[in-house]
Amino acid sequence: MSNDALKKAVAERAVNDYVKDGMVVGLGTGSTAYHAINRIGELVNKEGYKLTCVATSVRSEEQAKSLGITVVDVNDVESIDVTIDGADEVDPDMQLIKGLGGALIREKIVAAASQSEVIIVDETKAVDMLGTKCALPVEVLKFGYQKTKYALEAQGCKATLRMNGDEPFVTDNGNYIYDCKFESIKNPFFLESRINVIPGTVDNGLFLNTASTVLISHSDGTIEKRGL
Ligand code: A5P
Repeated sequence: MSNDALKKAVAERAVNDYVKDGMVVGLGTGSTAYHAINRIGELVNKEGYKLTCVATSVRSEEQAKSLGITVVDVNDVESIDVTIDGADEVDPDMQLIKGLGGALIREKIVAAASQSEVIIVDETKAVDMLGTKCALPVEVLKFGYQKTKYALEAQGCKATLRMNGDEPFVTDNGNYIYDCKFESIKNPFFLESRINVIPGTVDNGLFLNTASTVLISHSDGTIEKRGL
């Protein structure tokens, strides 16, 4: 199975198992969430589900709207029944790194407003310890961003400004992202508390105690479930 086939399989499983007619559903961002949104489109268009959705990025909102899915602002719903989103790393305790797709702030706000957060990944995202494979994305204000970099690197990482061609990548919120590569993140709770007090930092890609379920797609065709 190709990597994309693994993503599609786990995304479809999540939608089939967790999305029920009448729900308010959070739409994740990224190449795995993309398949979930397509499946949600099928539920709406072929199976007659009435769903109200909240998007975690402009990209996901546009995809959903192109499929005829109703998308509303997060402020316009009291709470979200379930959000289905991808991740970049998942540890054995279901702690996550997210944000390589650049949507971490909206993803975190939507996750916090959700009754359940179903994370869908292929097996390459499962790690023993966070930070060992990918960098930790940190969204920062443009103002003083080079000063913010020094403070981030004082936490023991190499911070690289994310680029889009020759220009810095700009998030949907108008900010920059530093990809902070640590050797590993031994204490994610401590690191999060240190990063989020750095002036200029908006938020970081550690999603701690956020996932209620993690579904992992394996190349032998099985889907492993952790959590609820
Ligand atoms: C988007 O900002 C991210 O948090 C994504 O959810 C994460 O990067 C996973 O993306 P893929 O499904 O494309 O790997």
